Amino acid sequence: LSPRMHQAAFEHLGLPHFYAALELAPKYFKKLMIHRAQILLDGFNVTIPYKQVIIPYLDSVSPEARLIGAVNTVRVRRGRFLGENTDAYGFLRLLREEFRWKSNRKKVLILGAGGAARACMTALLRDGVRQICILNRTPSKARGLALDFKNRFPKVPIDFAPLTGRKVREELLQADLVVHTTSVGLKVSDTSIVAKKDFPKVQGKRFAVDLIYNPPQTEFLRLAKAAGWKTANGLGMLLYQGAKAFELWTGRKAPVDVMRKALLFHNSK
Ligand code: ATR
Repeated sequence: LSPRMHQAAFEHLGLPHFYAALELAPKYFKKLMIHRAQILLDGFNVTIPYKQVIIPYLDSVSPEARLIGAVNTVRVRRGRFLGENTDAYGFLRLLREEFRWKSNRKKVLILGAGGAARACMTALLRDGVRQICILNRTPSKARGLALDFKNRFPKVPIDFAPLTGRKVREELLQADLVVHTTSVGLKVSDTSIVAKKDFPKVQGKRFAVDLIYNPPQTEFLRLAKAAGWKTANGLGMLLYQGAKAFELWTGRKAPVDVMRKALLFHNSK
């Protein structure tokens, strides 16, 4: 979807750039990094599995990307590779645009403890969230993530626990926002990691985000919605991280509506 979104934006503004997806085996990724001078690039995105691997090859890494521990956007300036991360920005803007979200005094439940969870936590902690709880299938990963952020944000309580039905229900009763960051739901046949009985029925301002955008409504989001939670999928995060990357590369304001239209059109195919 990223090529569709960026191409639409370039065309809309009459810019000469071209965005294409390259699937690179590790050997070729390394070659690209080493022989960079021979490649005409103004910038690029990096995705799984290279978001962390790329760091030693970069000439600089922004504070935001350092905090997240991953790079998703690279600017090329006079042959130098400058690493950035626009995922946290994308996530926060999704919350703001879709829910009019403000982090202060809010309690957030994060499901999963991988790279996506890390980007979301960075956004929320920098924005002044009151409390975070991380639940993950592998508790040691939740612990590692919690400890890492506790050092940097010592005033914010960051709890962690294994992902069990009882714990999910207990945390959902208190959460203003729940963010699903695991890969469960990518397949249409997947069930939700939160059971129907564990989703408390709510009214008013309680929010659920699933970072998955294809399928547009996972079982997790369907159950959240049925229980009265306001929901959003991850398409907004893809859009706004892309918009920010576009602005870093071109120095122009991203035509967000054009980019959203391209995403919606191609995501539904
Ligand atoms: P990403 O960078 O997209 O976050 P990742 O680092 O591979 O991807 O993280 C995937 C997350 O999905 C992890 O939290 C993983 O849990 P584990 O740490 O226990 O592996 C979670 N996950 C994947 N499959 C899962 C499943 N079947 N049930 C529960 N959690 C699952």
